[in-house]
Amino acid sequence: MSDPLVRNSAPMASTVPAADILLDLDDVHTHIEQYHILQGVSFQVPRGQFTMLLGRNGAGKTTTLRSVMGLWKVSQGRITFDGADIGGAATPDIACRGIAYVPEDMSIFSDLTVKENMVLAARQGEMDDTRLNWIFDLFPALKKFWSLEAGALSGGQKQMLAIARAIIEPRELLLIDEPTKGLAPAIVGAMIEAFQELKQAQTSVLLVEQNFQFARTLGDSVAVMDDGRVVHAGSMAELAENVELQQQLLGLSLDAHQ
Ligand SMILES: Nc1ncnc2c1ncn2[C@@H]1O[C@H](COP(=O)(O)OP(=O)(O)O)[C@@H](O)[C@H]1O
Ligand SMILES: [Mg+2]
Repeated sequence: MSDPLVRNSAPMASTVPAADILLDLDDVHTHIEQYHILQGVSFQVPRGQFTMLLGRNGAGKTTTLRSVMGLWKVSQGRITFDGADIGGAATPDIACRGIAYVPEDMSIFSDLTVKENMVLAARQGEMDDTRLNWIFDLFPALKKFWSLEAGALSGGQKQMLAIARAIIEPRELLLIDEPTKGLAPAIVGAMIEAFQELKQAQTSVLLVEQNFQFARTLGDSVAVMDDGRVVHAGSMAELAENVELQQQLLGLSLDAHQ
């Protein structure tokens, strides 16, 4: 009756392993001065995937990234990274654990060359050649303008430099805030190609995005914020297929002119 062979040959029940969660936000609250900006943000970033953080202006997306980096102090809730509670940690400690942050304003040095920007981002000022060549393949413009002052680059090239600075050292997780903001469609296309390469390399990314087409092309998972909360989290495939849900969550509509 309890023959182990029979048991072993039985069809596998629901043994799909739970996704390997790299970053977990659980009921995160953040106050900025007297304002209660994040009011219970909960979502997860699986390892080796692209997670898209969407939502209208002012929803709390940037505040969420800054809270993960310890740039805003979390007043309640838990942020777990790679199994460790990083909720109260200082920003340099969080960076040392392997999280890189590319803020919206990119934080590059305009009056230094592209090369100098990269050298400053590398630990101990030394760049690994193999890694640098990989970055040149991702962003050929950086190789071309290697000796040019970063301030002379186009908006898209500056964004690429900012991302390149974030990945010159191996990282566990990249947080990137609106990389396509204000970029021409052709540049967005080049950005998508570079991100697809990063995906091939199993990079874990949490990316804030306003452009839904860009987000659906790259995203594996998605979290949608509104008014300081996550109002939807799940797979991008599910949201991409469900036009009604898109309209409900993002106000996306083919004939919306506003
Ligand atoms: N430094 C700040 N001081 C006061 N309020 C802020 C500050 N930064 C953001 N906020 C407010 O927090 C809310 C969320 O902002 P933010 O996280 O930048 O939104 P998103 O990135 O989704 O556009 C907004 O209402 C914004 O006005
Ligand atoms: Mg923002």
